Amino acid sequence: MTEMLIKAEGLSVHFTIGSGLFNKQILKAVDNVTLDIEKGSFFGLVGESGSGKTTLGRALLKAVPIAEGSAHYEDGEVSYDLQSLEGADLKDYRKRAQLIFQDPYAALSPRMTVRDIIAEPLEVMGLTKNRTETDERVREIAAKCRLNLEHLRRFPHAFSGGQRQRISIARALVSGPQFVVADESVAALDVSIQADVLNLLKQLQDELGLTFMFISHDLSVVAHTCDHVAVMYLGRLVETAPTRKLFAAPRHPYTKALFSAIPSLDPDDRGKAQKLEGEIPSPTNQPSGCKFHTRCPYAIDVCKTTEPQLETETDHEVACHRWKELMDAVPA
Ligand SMILES: Nc1ncnc2c1ncn2[C@@H]1O[C@H](COP(=O)(O)OP(=O)(O)OP(=O)(O)O)[C@@H](O)[C@H]1O
Ligand SMILES: [Mg+2]
Repeated sequence: MTEMLIKAEGLSVHFTIGSGLFNKQILKAVDNVTLDIEKGSFFGLVGESGSGKTTLGRALLKAVPIAEGSAHYEDGEVSYDLQSLEGADLKDYRKRAQLIFQDPYAALSPRMTVRDIIAEPLEVMGLTKNRTETDERVREIAAKCRLNLEHLRRFPHAFSGGQRQRISIARALVSGPQFVVADESVAALDVSIQADVLNLLKQLQDELGLTFMFISHDLSVVAHTCDHVAVMYLGRLVETAPTRKLFAAPRHPYTKALFSAIPSLDPDDRGKAQKLEGEIPSPTNQPSGCKFHTRCPYAIDVCKTTEPQLETETDHEVACHRWKELMDAVPA
């Protein structure tokens, strides 16, 4: 049986923006998200900018408060309800769940040596007894992240983007986490270096039995890396599936539009696929019904009035009133 490490049910994250009595608005950055992340998997989360990917990742790391719904972490004997997690259990969770930062240029303090950057989480969390033990742990994880141990005494400015990203990865993994959220970890890098970093993450996943949530704008990156993909739009999940199924036959018009933005990945390579037009609506003023209807070429009346729920009967889940009809209409 497959074991789930992370389970979210009806998870919502709200931000209050604006000030004063009349200007305050609630922004639903994550809205009623239900998902399971299998232990040991590489779970991809894609969607346009502002769709709520980072916020969902942060909610699963308990880095932002959950407004509604629940999120659970389960690993063997350990079972945490993230909503109520506090004290020693929260401290333990900080060790088990980590973030790899988005931008390796911004994330690393220029005044700390590589050794100190990697060692900091151990010291903050009090995970090692003395400097010798800390150094040992730092060297061990640096080697796993294919960093040259001679470089531990240097400062981050001496390194290229790819090497800096390895330093960020080592820092995230030094506490021995099980669950790692990698937020656009390769987006700031050159394509060839991106591939190296992705390969490293895959190797680390294998060697250390890690579970990744991999956040990306880029479906082609997700294709090569992830076992399972969730597509997000305006805080909602619109489609989730094993990568192979999603790429063979995407069901949601939004997913299809994301694919057609990348010609080499377009499953409907006859140029008929809809290009994504228009801007993502403001999250403080969301459309009624299906949130995608304002940009969807297939929207009909019901899409404007009734929000489609994620159909969860199979492992290929989709939230669209018309997906079946549309699949039938397009010959395979
Ligand atoms: N701390 C915050 N306070 C107020 N609003 C926020 C906050 N963080 C995020 N938001 C808003 O929540 C929505 C989702 O943002 P989020 O950063 O999660 O999107 P994203 O999918 O990660 O986008 P990107 O691809 O650009 O990183 C956006 O409308 C954003 O402006
Ligand atoms: Mg983001």
